[in-house]
Amino acid sequence: MKKKILIVDDEISIGLLLSKFLAKKGFEVSNVTSGKKVLQAVEKERFDLVLCDYRLDDTDGKEILIYIKENYPNTSVIITTGYSDIKLAIELIKLGAYDYIVKPLYPDEILNSINKALEMQGTLKSSEHLEDKGCDVISNVLNSPAYIHGESAASVLLLKQIELIAPTNYTVILTGESGTGKECVAKTIHLNSARREQHFIAMDCGSLTKDLAASEFFGHEKGAFTGATFTKIGHFEQANGGTLFLDEVGNLSYEIQATLLRAVQERKIKRIGSTKEIDLDVRLIVATNENLKEAIQEGTFREDLYHRFNEFSIHVPALKDRDHDILIFAAHFLATVNQELNKEIRGFSDEVKKCLLAYHWPGNVRELKNVIRRIALLTDGDWIETRVLPLEFGMTDYRKKLNEKKAALFPQTSNHSQSLNLRHAAKEAEYHTILEVLKAVNFNKTKAAKILNIDRKTLYNKIKFIDMGDGI
Ligand SMILES: Nc1ncnc2c1ncn2[C@@H]1O[C@H](COP(=O)(O)OP(=O)(O)OP(=O)(O)O)[C@@H](O)[C@H]1O
Ligand SMILES: [Mg+2]
Repeated sequence: MKKKILIVDDEISIGLLLSKFLAKKGFEVSNVTSGKKVLQAVEKERFDLVLCDYRLDDTDGKEILIYIKENYPNTSVIITTGYSDIKLAIELIKLGAYDYIVKPLYPDEILNSINKALEMQGTLKSSEHLEDKGCDVISNVLNSPAYIHGESAASVLLLKQIELIAPTNYTVILTGESGTGKECVAKTIHLNSARREQHFIAMDCGSLTKDLAASEFFGHEKGAFTGATFTKIGHFEQANGGTLFLDEVGNLSYEIQATLLRAVQERKIKRIGSTKEIDLDVRLIVATNENLKEAIQEGTFREDLYHRFNEFSIHVPALKDRDHDILIFAAHFLATVNQELNKEIRGFSDEVKKCLLAYHWPGNVRELKNVIRRIALLTDGDWIETRVLPLEFGMTDYRKKLNEKKAALFPQTSNHSQSLNLRHAAKEAEYHTILEVLKAVNFNKTKAAKILNIDRKTLYNKIKFIDMGDGI
């Protein structure tokens, strides 16, 4: 059946041109020129897609978008406009527009966007069957092979925001729980910007000590202070021409915030111990899993710096809010682990899929990645079965019964008494302890490091180590 498109443009000539072009491409097309006529048209028949000009005589594209999304959520909306306004574009995308296209309109661009929007309708509708598709559903529209974008509504919104903001020079604040993929998003933004050939430098502000912070940011000259035996290039300078990603920016001391603000405002830095000014051309992306607005209220974060950073903000959704994407991520991580461990595990049993979907994932994608590594390691057969899942995983009735049975038969053995060697066993115990503590403190790494009696940096390394799966 032909897909139906409604074109809304008050310039009759543009409307006619578009409708001729789209009719030739096999669509059934109707034309209207005002907001009022849109309401009449959508009441009369169901459209698959509305292509709407932003400025109309009696209303604007935003109002039409809201009306359509409220009343006909399955109809895709693409807004066209004569003015490029990135903030408006994002607002419209957040409200549910599929795309925002700036005039002059190029037929191929329009057709491409329409086809993608209609394709997306198809995939969203069939998302209940995602689990059967396994790894096939991973496609990379973005220029980043390591980024899995998912297909849930939350992931599609995230992807759209990345696509829109990436080519600009805006400073971006990424918020989201720990392990949701903020660094991954930052890297993806970099790889989809004009800076992609330049450096992407990631800096963990959480583990910066007060004394070293300035030299980490700005570098120092040899002999600038006791212990400065070599000249050090700071992260700003390393990232010059490219992107600097500041992770856990909420942990910066008030003092260093002031220095940072100056550098960002003046777009110049000096190495410690040097008088030479270095011009900066660095795009900043910052991330936090703390509420910076609260930190401002409490007086621990500078409001002026916050506004400098907040040219645009993107919230990276928690894994539990990304529906069936859990299975897309799981399938992808399994494929990687298979390669690393030289295994040929084919997938997850239905029961395991149910457990993965039911679990609340407090450690988000990082936790999922670690769990997949671990259960893949413990699996010898073709399929991952529930017996290898960590205990906290949804005690479905089936698992409960299985565990009760096991406990009765082998009262003193652990849940996964596999033939692990001592090195594995030690790693496993460490993994468990770290994960347990992280969960107990809601993934606050400062608190976790204190409880584990290691410094934050060591904890960081261990988490990274677990992430890399180096031998768990
Ligand atoms: N979209 C994604 N595609 C592929 N891998 C992902 C994605 N999101 C997250 N990951 C993986 O999950 C792990 C955690 O991601 P990342 O470090 O970006 O999270 P984060 O939000 O920065 O965490 P934290 O708040 O703890 O710093 C990494 O190993 C990363 O590769
Ligand atoms: Mg991070």
